[in-house]
Amino acid sequence: VERTLSIIKPDATKRNLTGKINAKFEDAGLRIVAQKRIQLTKAQAGEFYAVHKERPFYDELCEFMASEPVVVQVLEGDGAIAKNREVMGATNPADAAPGTIRAEFAESVGENSVHGSDAPETAAVEIAFFFSGLELVG
Ligand code: GTP
Ligand code: MG
Repeated sequence: VERTLSIIKPDATKRNLTGKINAKFEDAGLRIVAQKRIQLTKAQAGEFYAVHKERPFYDELCEFMASEPVVVQVLEGDGAIAKNREVMGATNPADAAPGTIRAEFAESVGENSVHGSDAPETAAVEIAFFFSGLELVG
């Protein structure tokens, strides 16, 4: 089975949507095998999103990710990376398919409620960023 790193972002934790978002994952057959609620510093958010350092929205993104607590989690299942991104919907909620998390909950292209890893290599790096092996209980 495959694992992916998911983040429930500040706009969603602030609106008390953690349970509703987790229900979407579980209904899609994804298992939450690790989960914790943490407050990122702006520097930690910047390190996590380092691949976007040159993008014009980088500073805004880091501020946003540090603005309220986030829930970081590891989702497990067959094809978990693609399945999670399907359940999340397109980055911009205006383009997200009906029924997806971003279509139902996201507020804007920046404040879009969830993050999900985009490939096996990034999933491994992103899971290790937040979790130790001991915290992962399949
Ligand atoms: P993630 O799962 O969060 O990585 O989203 P993604 O893979 O669908 O999008 P991408 O990796 O291209 O961008 C990462 C994040 O940067 C997005 O989820 C948004 O929160 C933010 N972002 C992307 N484009 C914009 C933009 O045009 N403006 C702002 N403010 N934020 C953006
Ligand atoms: Mg991405």
